[in-house]
This record gives sequence, C-alpha cells and structure tokens, in this order.
Amino acid sequence: MEPYARHVLVCTGGFCTEDRQGRGLYSLLAQLLQREELLFGPNRVKRSEAPCLGVCAGGPIVAVYPEGVWYAGVTPQLLERIVVEHLRDGHEVSEAVFHRLTKAEG
Ligand code: FES
Repeated sequence: MEPYARHVLVCTGGFCTEDRQGRGLYSLLAQLLQREELLFGPNRVKRSEAPCLGVCAGGPIVAVYPEGVWYAGVTPQLLERIVVEHLRDGHEVSEAVFHRLTKAEG
C-alpha cells in the first residue's frame, strides 16, 4: 500500500453543529483532495469521517494528523484553505486551530 502523508478526520455528528454540516464537508473534502492531486503521491491524504470527536461544540470539527492539529468552525471556505495551505503546502491555518495534540516545533 502506498503510504499516506496525512490523515484527516471530519466529524459528521449532530452535536457540534445543529444540522450535521460535517457531512457536506466530508464530501467536499474528497473533491478538494482530487483537485489538488492529494489522493496519490508523496502528499497523499487519507480522509475519514467520525460520528463524534468528543468536542461537541463549535463545529464542524476537522483534525489533521500526524500534526495533531484540530480545526473548529470549519466552513467550506476554510476547508479549502486547510486543503491548499495545510495539506498541500504544509502550513497550518493557524487562526482556525483550537487544539493541538503535539507541541509546535521551533
Ligand atoms: S458531534 Fe462533532 S465532536 Fe461530537
């Protein structure tokens, strides 16, 4: 199996948003990964949906690993920035990060 560079988890549950906005984001993520050529090659991204990520407020919630960076309030526009700036170019969208599982380097 070709290795993945990153794994993106999208909460599609009904507690962090009233109308499960994460479900639409999860579909959009597939389109954006294809558009940015992130389905294959050295920057390959795995996407997964989760019924709940334990936050249950301020969603939709999106988490990116291995960085352990969690984004809140992810709109379609913000998701596009996450895909282009973080997943493709390697720079976090820092103003939308609300939690980190690992310390930032530097
Ligand atoms: S329902 Fe989205 S974090 Fe719990």
